[in-house]
Amino acid sequence: MGDGIELMLQNEEFIEEADKRKWYMFLYESAKKKITTKLEILNDDFQRTHKYNPIEYIKARIKSPESISRKLIRNGYEDTLENMWNNIHDVVGVRLVCSFIPDIYTLQSMIGNQQDLKLIKVKDYIKEPKESGYKSFHMIVSLPVFSSFGEIRVKVEIQIRTIAMDFWASLEHKTAYKFEGKPPEYITKELRETAEMITELETKMLHLNEEIRKYEKLG
Ligand code: GTP
Ligand code: MG
Repeated sequence: MGDGIELMLQNEEFIEEADKRKWYMFLYESAKKKITTKLEILNDDFQRTHKYNPIEYIKARIKSPESISRKLIRNGYEDTLENMWNNIHDVVGVRLVCSFIPDIYTLQSMIGNQQDLKLIKVKDYIKEPKESGYKSFHMIVSLPVFSSFGEIRVKVEIQIRTIAMDFWASLEHKTAYKFEGKPPEYITKELRETAEMITELETKMLHLNEEIRKYEKLG
């Protein structure tokens, strides 16, 4: 595990399971605050130096206890706090929504350059979309939280996507939820088609944006 949490949990403060849970949740909440602030600062600095915001908006959430339990069971683990800590990488989730695909890669490299963040995993569903048509750029990182017991590294999932991808993903998510993961074939097919339309739309919008920016430079 290597994050030093076992030693801290031997402290008498954590004899009760409920206290342990509170402690883990405190770590997750702290990580959520830190990552959100860090990303806001990156965005503000980018605005200051390049007069441009790569992030349109940031959403952050903590996974609900029910959803954590379900995911543990689904992945074949016993529903324990230790298994949550070691095996669920998206208890803290941050979503960065941008206008254009190049913004996503700008953010990826800005995040990669942050010395206190450790990159654990990257999944590029833009280069390789999922079967559903889903596109997004995912990173799992860990960041240090400094508690009274010392430094602990907490994992966070960062999803970076465009407004159009977010629009698509939210409808697809609602659909999957509504049909419990098994929508009628024609709906699945139409969703895949709209995913392609979105790619086309994004290419055109990006081109237009580049044209407009040429005029900004002239003016
Ligand atoms: P989860 O158990 O869903 O977290 O999957 P995973 O840990 O194998 O990782 P994956 O990269 O597949 O998905 C991580 C997250 O991306 C999910 O929790 C969703 O938020 C999002 N996601 C992945 N696939 C899809 C999809 O097909 N549709 C939508 N709407 N969201 C998706
Ligand atoms: Mg997830």
